[in-house]
Amino acid sequence: MWQKTKVNRVARENLHEHKGAVVWFTGLSGSGKSTIAAELEWHLYRQGIHTYLLDGDNVRLGLNEDLGFSMRDREENIRRVGHLAKLFVDAGMVVIVAMISPLRKDREWVRSLFAQGEFIETFIDCPLDICIERDPKGLYKKALAGSIPDFTGISSPYEHPIHADLTIRTNQVRISEAVSTIETHLVAQIIPERSSQTLQKTHVLHQR
Ligand code: ADX
Repeated sequence: MWQKTKVNRVARENLHEHKGAVVWFTGLSGSGKSTIAAELEWHLYRQGIHTYLLDGDNVRLGLNEDLGFSMRDREENIRRVGHLAKLFVDAGMVVIVAMISPLRKDREWVRSLFAQGEFIETFIDCPLDICIERDPKGLYKKALAGSIPDFTGISSPYEHPIHADLTIRTNQVRISEAVSTIETHLVAQIIPERSSQTLQKTHVLHQR
């Protein structure tokens, strides 16, 4: 049984002055997930919003270092990060997850862990040919040459979301526009009584 504690989620959320939530980024490698996630986190941090960014690449260095890229391992990757995100939400925080998370069924499973509105599925949409052109880590080149097996979009499937809460077309909008779209949606969820504009004015912690 879940052990009840004296300091609970509501208490922690009151301390933070906002609710917990998950912004879950899904999309191809090179679509811009990590870049937008990092920029969003910085933007929220400057407004006094308590965040943590779980990036697939980083989580795979520790907690998930035993996992590869078979469909089974990707499912396990998402299962662990989903539960981790749930604990962070219980801590009253805003968790930003940036993972390819290629299958709809796995993303739907993660959504089922959270209450309505608390899980914001954000599709970082970028055509495969542009991701291949960008190739920020040189991985597409290797995958196309056959040296990386099971590479998403090349030799492993990616199922785009059908009912994403937000879709960001990174080949059409600037990073600042993307961040602002996500922020508006998020703030309505975590601080329903306040508009993001008011928040920006009252909670500036640090200057760049
Ligand atoms: S997921 O499919 O299990 O959600 P995750 O987001 O954790 O993937 O990791 C993706 C990152 O791992 C990519 O951004 C890329 O840097 C790296 N990577 C290495 N091998 C692969 C592969 N076969 N398919 C996709 N990404 C890979």
